[in-house]
Amino acid sequence: MTLLDVQNLEVTYPGGAAAVRGVDLTLEAGQKLGIAGESGCGKSTLALALLRLLPAGTKVGGRILLDGEDVLAMKWGQVRAVRWAGASIVFQGAMHSLNAVHRIGDQIAEPILLHRRATAAGAKRKAGELLEQVGLPAARASAYPHELSGGQRQRVMIAMALACDPGLVIADEPTTALDVMIQAQILRLIEELVSEQNVGLIMISHDLAVLADTCDRLAVMYAGRVVEEGPAGRVFDDARHPYARALSAAFPRIGDPASRFAPAGLAGDPPDPSALPGGCAFHPRCPVALESCATEDQPLRLADAATGRRAACVHAGAGAEEAAAVVDAAVVHAPAVRAAAADTTLPDIPGVRGSGADGDDSGATGSRAGTDDGEATGPRASSGAATSGMDADGGAGTSGADAAGSTGAADPEAGGTDGARSTTA
Ligand SMILES: Nc1ncnc2c1ncn2[C@@H]1O[C@H](COP(=O)(O)OP(=O)(O)O)[C@@H](O)[C@H]1O
Ligand code: SF4
Ligand SMILES: [Mg+2]
Repeated sequence: MTLLDVQNLEVTYPGGAAAVRGVDLTLEAGQKLGIAGESGCGKSTLALALLRLLPAGTKVGGRILLDGEDVLAMKWGQVRAVRWAGASIVFQGAMHSLNAVHRIGDQIAEPILLHRRATAAGAKRKAGELLEQVGLPAARASAYPHELSGGQRQRVMIAMALACDPGLVIADEPTTALDVMIQAQILRLIEELVSEQNVGLIMISHDLAVLADTCDRLAVMYAGRVVEEGPAGRVFDDARHPYARALSAAFPRIGDPASRFAPAGLAGDPPDPSALPGGCAFHPRCPVALESCATEDQPLRLADAATGRRAACVHAGAGAEEAAAVVDAAVVHAPAVRAAAADTTLPDIPGVRGSGADGDDSGATGSRAGTDDGEATGPRASSGAATSGMDADGGAGTSGADAAGSTGAADPEAGGTDGARSTTA
């Protein structure tokens, strides 16, 4: 049975922010799914929705089938049982997630006592074993959080997430607050533990390169939607959606000096979820948008039958290779290397001005790509300085996660996060 099957998930915050809009995702036991996207794209909201950790008054629609049971339809007692034992979350910033006045061993033992009905001695023994699994001596169980380094605290959070042998672990930016050497260790640790225990993993990050390295599949979110989903390597190396392609191009490739000296990016920021643009929400920033994109939204559709890759773009599907070449010329080849790109004869794509060599295209078919002076350099190139939105996450955007309480599985009573389902469907 599929471990997690998310169907048409919609989340709207009390103020009207449509943070998640019709997300469909599946995850098999033992599989690792990465979720990427700029800050504010709805990644944390999606994670919190999976365990009903959203603030009171938030409207949630759709279905979240965990081991075949709809989390959104469960009674609170059942939801509490599912947290920790069915699925658990590792948040970023362990210092804020651990209780400063309790020893870490006691904090790890607490869910084991509550959810596994273990004896005090049994829970203590298990806490020691978990610490050793995450690379800390069992004797550190008597330490307080402030006595540990940031990386050690994040290891404790991972031990807590694994305490009740969940089938699913959700890691929301688990390494954002850590320095770069420790990040790699922690990611490797999570990956190893979930692989050993055949646990499903959802790893959330704004860093597509990290996810491509760690996960089997990758979903890229934009404005509350999944805009591309598929095998991690393919999405990172050869994305079909212009946003996913731009996100991927923002990360320099080893051995590619052009990308080191002129990393590509996109101007602007993701839209405010309370005031989304019509049509495809990406159209104001899209270098290959057609006129119709301002009014017509695109569903996630099969873009590559061989790999089951899906993308939500008018250019995805038939002729996808040609579309990818156009997006490459517009986004991947930033101004510093644009001259070289201009020498490349681009394939002609109906409706995309500048995709072919014809600089006289009147634009009657509605593309807003290309330069107005008819310069045959391909679609509108992104501004060289425009990487701002791409890697601006940096630990922000976790408001929802913070709201969820301190330990990653806050009870609504304790954490004040009702998470009440106000189903719109
Ligand atoms: N508790 C909240 N109340 C209202 N809006 C929120 C809340 N939490 C997040 N948002 C909004 O929802 C959108 C998605 O946020 P989030 O899920 O945190 O994105 P990400 O994790 O991708 O950075 C953002 O625009 C954010 O401002
Ligand atoms: S081409 Fe149109 S549908 Fe595709 S991403 Fe750009 S705006 Fe959206
Ligand atoms: Mg977030």
